[in-house]
Amino acid sequence: MTQHFIVIGNPIAHSKSPEIHTLFGAQTGLDICYQRQYCPDDAASFTAVIEAFFHGGGIGANVTVPFKQIAYECCAARGGLSEHAKVAGAVNTLLLNKALLAKGVPPAEALYGDNTDGQGLVNHIQRLGWSLQGARVAIIGAGGAARGVVLPLIEAGIEQLTIANRTLSKATDLVHELSIASTAIADKQIKTCVTAELSGEFDIIINATSIGLSGETLPLNNALNCHFAYDMMYGRELPFLQHFEARGAQTSDGYGMLIGQAALSFERWTGHIIDVAKASEALK
Ligand code: ATR
Repeated sequence: MTQHFIVIGNPIAHSKSPEIHTLFGAQTGLDICYQRQYCPDDAASFTAVIEAFFHGGGIGANVTVPFKQIAYECCAARGGLSEHAKVAGAVNTLLLNKALLAKGVPPAEALYGDNTDGQGLVNHIQRLGWSLQGARVAIIGAGGAARGVVLPLIEAGIEQLTIANRTLSKATDLVHELSIASTAIADKQIKTCVTAELSGEFDIIINATSIGLSGETLPLNNALNCHFAYDMMYGRELPFLQHFEARGAQTSDGYGMLIGQAALSFERWTGHIIDVAKASEALK
């Protein structure tokens, strides 16, 4: 029987998730149908869409902009949240809580939220041959994208973390909130600074701001260097990567992170492990 999946967002027409998951289905020999689902930008519409989907036998859903926080609230009030979703304050993967279903709870009331974005980033960096164990890492940006990657990076064994942001108070607020949410994060004693003042030598610098494709550039300090620069955006030449390439660093955009988070969602839903390197090659 065909297993049904959706990705819900607004806008959604550009989403590459159907292409990626359809390939995973072919790789694993599963009969799946994965579709884009447009949804009006309000919580009531989002809830109505996912209730109908899961009530109708849907197996899993990905959630993208602008619904990740709404999905978090929805799952918090229903079938629960994974540790990563709790700390991220956002859900990108919806599935059914089987323990609740077994107790007779209807699917729409048993929605469980996970977040695979940060682990997708970690897996991609490791796939590219970079060790996070003992690494000195800086993240630029203090919004939702940054929030989602902090715990997975710490779990991967990084030594030091600095979060730099245009607005310093957002970075310090983020660290404060994350430290309350997770003792592993509190123990790491994350440093913060204004982006223009981020300087010194890092193993890895990650751009988690939303400027990637806007053509704007970050005010990067001349005394800032790294071995590897990663931009969570993808799609075209990224000034952030060009800056560090010119200084001799290796670089990567975030397309592999997209495939990585998708693979983890697929694994949660189906129990099938994806050969991400093979899938990435096929999607090139
Ligand atoms: P996302 O969910 O993609 O992280 P967000 O929560 O709106 O989006 O966060 C956007 C991030 O990009 C923030 O860190 C923001 O910096 P501020 O907190 O100072 O607003 C950063 N950002 C957006 N536009 C920027 C720009 N032109 N220059 C520097 N940072 C920018």
